[in-house]
Amino acid sequence: MSSSNVTWHSSSVSKSDRSSLNSLKPAVLWFTGLSGSGKSTIANAVEQELHRRGVRTYLLDGDNVRHGLNKDLGFSDEDRIENLRRISEVSKLFIDAGLLVLTAFISPFRVDRQRVAEMLPEGEFIEVFIDTPIEVCESRDPKGLYKKVRAGEIANFTGIDSAYEEPTHPDIHVKTNDYSIEECAAQIVDHLQASHYIS
Ligand code: ADX
Repeated sequence: MSSSNVTWHSSSVSKSDRSSLNSLKPAVLWFTGLSGSGKSTIANAVEQELHRRGVRTYLLDGDNVRHGLNKDLGFSDEDRIENLRRISEVSKLFIDAGLLVLTAFISPFRVDRQRVAEMLPEGEFIEVFIDTPIEVCESRDPKGLYKKVRAGEIANFTGIDSAYEEPTHPDIHVKTNDYSIEECAAQIVDHLQASHYIS
């Protein structure tokens, strides 16, 4: 209701005009994986390498976005859905600005990731599965959260008492247990090059 009587204005500088200045094909690299799986670390390494190559990027990271735009949201199913809805709209704006966007959110539900893919034109959603077994995430425990979960201090934790639905056909499947951070980042950058997102 709140959006009735609002008209979409097309701007005279188009997405392709903007991206032509950036020598890339705009898209979002949508990282998904458990807490502690390495999403932020690998996304950062990818962004660093892209930046080194002169590719314009923007990284949206779960923990950071939850300090600002989404600080009113928690970890109930409804809040996670709203978290992703807002992130997907922001990603779409950054894609429209002609950038290569990286997002690092658990994004646990398949149907929500599917919804993001469907709101973007073909080829603009690249699903990156950061595949790390939960035992490994728990043993890394970079933020001490699994320890708190086991102590009963956090509820609705992904992979423990809240679901994580693995991607069935990710565009890029990164097995962090078998490779270094640099190798994982290189796998993703190689895919971008092979698929002509970057030259
Ligand atoms: S998502 O499920 O809505 O996509 P998001 O990626 O934004 O999650 O936030 C996940 C981060 O929040 C985790 O990496 C962790 O640091 C923190 N966190 C705090 N509580 C929870 C919880 N109950 N489940 C998962 N992550 C949590």
